[in-house]
Amino acid sequence: MSRKVFLVGDGAVGSTFANDLLQNATVDELAIFDVAKDRPVGDSMDLEDITPFMGQTDIHPAEYSDAKDADVCVITAGVPRKPGETRLDLVAKNVKILKSIVQPVVESGFKGVFVVSVNPVDILTTLTQKLSGFPKSRVIGTGTSLDSMRLRVELAKRLNVPVAKVNSMVLGEHGDTSFENFDESIVDGKPLRDYSEINDDVLSEIETDVRKKGGKIIGNKGATFYGVAMMLTQIVSAILNNRSICLPLSAPINGEYGIKHDLYLGTPAVINGQGIEQVIETKISDAEQAKMTNSADKMQEVLDGIKL
Ligand code: 2OP
Repeated sequence: MSRKVFLVGDGAVGSTFANDLLQNATVDELAIFDVAKDRPVGDSMDLEDITPFMGQTDIHPAEYSDAKDADVCVITAGVPRKPGETRLDLVAKNVKILKSIVQPVVESGFKGVFVVSVNPVDILTTLTQKLSGFPKSRVIGTGTSLDSMRLRVELAKRLNVPVAKVNSMVLGEHGDTSFENFDESIVDGKPLRDYSEINDDVLSEIETDVRKKGGKIIGNKGATFYGVAMMLTQIVSAILNNRSICLPLSAPINGEYGIKHDLYLGTPAVINGQGIEQVIETKISDAEQAKMTNSADKMQEVLDGIKL
């Protein structure tokens, strides 16, 4: 079986993901497309230099026709946030770019799984499914997977426990209406709320810090890419290896959490080689339910304003 990834967008996120993927997964072919044609040429040459230590991978610049026999199409192409911008500020520009990508990928005969990591990611994942006409299970967005890792890091630091022992998720929009599933969080085998350091003020501070972390990174170094590239690597390796894993992702909502809208939003989901195997409606408190409804309504409002 040959494992092929078609990557669209060879900017900071795309190229960091390519590097992570080669180091963490077995990939037979990595085809890279970017409108700036020189980048995939340079990156293919640069990346192939790590293969003597990683295994045999055919890494090459690509045209859209190369998507035909790929297992996964990863989309990272879009305008990134500038300091001070919200993810929703990017919608008009990135919808236009997305349209120019999904159509030729589908026309190539691509039959794999789309994995979207362009902001606003819940909106663009919803639109990738609509534009492609693919079954909802074969379109996934990185969603709040990154926010959840940021939350784990923050809790580990504050409670002085190893990050691997923190089990906690961010749900809803990957953006300003995201929220933490604190009531279900387990830290070092203990419910988060049982820690003496934790109270409502501290939790609200943690929520704000996690939500603002991406903006802070952009303010300091102009972009964020290591975290999201690692989440992409986890998702893509699960697909390539047909290994079931459960992660908070931008997944298709079909009545879960009482949401009436037809869209993608951050919730835990199980993925495998075919894409999304199961969307999991996790337990949330009444206050979190109100936040989930707010996130879904906000996403629908933005979707209503988009003319495809
Ligand atoms: C992040 O949160 C920019 O959405 C990206 O790092």
